[in-house]
Amino acid sequence: MSNIITRGANGAMNWVNERAPALMPMYRKHMTEYYAPKNFNIWYIFGVLSMVALVNQIVTGIFLTMHYKPSAAEAFASVEYIMRDVQWGWLIRYMHSTGASLFFVVVYIHMFRGLMYGSYRKPRELVWILGMLIYLVLMAEAFLGYVLPWGQMSFWGAKVIISLFGAIPVIGGGLVEWIMGDYLPGDATLNRFFALHVIALPLVLLLLVVLHLGALHEVGSNNPDGVEIKKGPKGNRWSPTAPADGIPFHPYYTVKDTVYIGFFLILAAFIIFFAPAFGGWFLEHDNFTEANRLVTPAQIKPVWYYTPYYAMLRVVPDKLGGVMVMFGAIAILFLVPWLDRAKVKSVRYRGWITRAMLTLLVVCFVWLGKIGAGPGTDPVETVIGRVLTFFYFAFFITMPLWTKLDKTKPVPERVTMHD
Ligand code: HEM
Repeated sequence: MSNIITRGANGAMNWVNERAPALMPMYRKHMTEYYAPKNFNIWYIFGVLSMVALVNQIVTGIFLTMHYKPSAAEAFASVEYIMRDVQWGWLIRYMHSTGASLFFVVVYIHMFRGLMYGSYRKPRELVWILGMLIYLVLMAEAFLGYVLPWGQMSFWGAKVIISLFGAIPVIGGGLVEWIMGDYLPGDATLNRFFALHVIALPLVLLLLVVLHLGALHEVGSNNPDGVEIKKGPKGNRWSPTAPADGIPFHPYYTVKDTVYIGFFLILAAFIIFFAPAFGGWFLEHDNFTEANRLVTPAQIKPVWYYTPYYAMLRVVPDKLGGVMVMFGAIAILFLVPWLDRAKVKSVRYRGWITRAMLTLLVVCFVWLGKIGAGPGTDPVETVIGRVLTFFYFAFFITMPLWTKLDKTKPVPERVTMHD
């Protein structure tokens, strides 16, 4: 029996190979002959988990689209219908809405890993830039999606965020109207957001992810030691010309990743089954009430993954200034490859200054996130927010200085196998 299957599979493969001879070399280049450093640790699974999260969003999104109605009159009721009447509709919806938050959790960890191990440094600047573009598009995609259920927070969130463009001199007012297609978020807004959310931005995201991985595979992966394995000795048990410290991505890392994907899915299932709204952090309470342009919610706030930037917007007294600080906070991340002047890549071989600065960055980002999720009425908190915003920017602006000042340790020639 197994003989027949093997012969059938080989036959099919030969058939495809004869007709598309470029496929097999491509598979080899990116899978069996992609030599990844053998010292990857747990931080290196978050790229793959980001891919799992992306696929989950696309698949569950397709099913939601089958029952969702993109009109201001019907959207809220159609989501309720999905939750109550469509078979397993509640599961599909929560896999999508809670899935969005989990996507950001893994992407934030993935980005932090890059910062820790200097993965953005030459020759991987393009990988980082493409990653940052993914991050931007992802934030836009999540914002558009959040408007679709047409709950209170969808409506008021859309109003606040779109109105930010009104701060731009001269064209601001016209731009806001153009984006909304109306004077307030309404049917036209919902319809175009739907089109952008279900097809335009997902296509862009997929393209960017392909480019992100393509760029990475051209230069090869970094690793927790920041050692360039391609510059090291050659020859391993699979190939005399491959880096000695590299192992084939498939099957070694595909198997390892599968185990971690299993853990991730179990954890995700627990959250989706037992705490899908996560105490209002993943799905805000106000969004379980239909949009009403006559009733403003007590507090308008975005989902947690935007709140650090939202806090920066609010603590700056001037509207245009706030908008510039907010976008500046994201834009400055693009420059990291050129701001870092350290002699070594990985935090493992850097001194205490890098560790202290990375800790400072995390503290600022998380604390600002907490402030952004609050009502924003406490004057003391506003002052703290300003200080944190200052230190957030200081991290990047003074980066050329502290990365140079920090003492470094000698980097080994070969990768090391301890965590
Ligand atoms: C949809 C979102 C994303 C997906 C699916 C994705 C996927 C991946 C995958 C599969 C890898 C290789 C495995 C790994 O090193 O973890 C990778 C590497 C990398 N990604 Fe992403 N990524 C995403 C977003 C981002 C973002 C937002 C950034 C940062 C701005 C980023 C920066 C990097 C860097 C610098 C590497 C190279 C890491 C190294 O070699 O050490 N990625 N990405």
